[in-house]
Amino acid sequence: MKLFAGNSNRALAEQITRYLEIPLGRANVRRFADQEIFVEILENVRGEDCFVLQSTSYPANDHLMELLIMIDALKRASARRITAVLPYFGYARQDRKPGPRTPISAKLVANMITTAGADRVLTLDLHAAQIQGFFDIPTDNLFAVPVLARDVKESYDLDHTVVVSPDVGGVVRARALAKRIEARLAIVDKRRERPGESEVMNVIGDVTGANCILVDDIVDSGGTLCNAADALLDIGAASVTAYITHGVLSGGAVARVTASRLKELVITDSIQPTSAVETAHNIRVLSVAELVGEAINRTALEKSVSSLFD
Ligand code: R5P
Repeated sequence: MKLFAGNSNRALAEQITRYLEIPLGRANVRRFADQEIFVEILENVRGEDCFVLQSTSYPANDHLMELLIMIDALKRASARRITAVLPYFGYARQDRKPGPRTPISAKLVANMITTAGADRVLTLDLHAAQIQGFFDIPTDNLFAVPVLARDVKESYDLDHTVVVSPDVGGVVRARALAKRIEARLAIVDKRRERPGESEVMNVIGDVTGANCILVDDIVDSGGTLCNAADALLDIGAASVTAYITHGVLSGGAVARVTASRLKELVITDSIQPTSAVETAHNIRVLSVAELVGEAINRTALEKSVSSLFD
């Protein structure tokens, strides 16, 4: 097995190689003067089981293109099997037509990864599980919930804890955490009036005096999260902490979170944390290196990946 990495999250790739006790595959991924991407695999991969780790995080299109070109380079170098490892699969929120004459970009990106030559995909907390079906190659969707649940148990007093989904679409994800930590569940009924804006309308469930744990797949602008936190605190929650797998945190999101009433935002390193994230007083990062590393290991050994979540 060989693991290569693009430039999106080398820190995670290096942690995974330490877990797997293998060196990181040597590859040159650089830019020509006009910003075209050039890739050179610097070691023999003929007949090898190759994994390419790349999150399509900011700058999303550059990182996606790096992934596609790395897959192409490995394919042309006669790798036996190529698995695209996307701890964060960007474009996943564009998984349906929100209106007439709009694209389904998640499907287009899935097609591009397949056409580039990937034989398998390994990803984490897909925005919607059915996006697996956008790929016509085997796709494993890992869940960060064991990592999150362990941290919740270690960090918080679970008496009076309620797990909260910040919108109706996230109930399955929130329920999975609530089940693991044996907590009650509540739902914020969010209405989005205009794209890019979020508005909290109603909380379904009793959160009075409760320590709320908001669970979501993505924190991007931080709007959904901070509005949900305000709604919960306004109706009498004792505290609000958030556990969110993918810290996209674009624009002024970090400032928004640090200025919010959130006790803490816990994210994972599926996206490489910026220095602003690392120094924020109420943001903490958990690593998914062991989880992703073990899934890679099991894929290479043709062992069950789903049993990681039993
Ligand atoms: C939406 O369905 C997602 O699960 C997230 O709630 C959303 O992408 C978060 O975005 P933002 O932080 O910009 O509100």
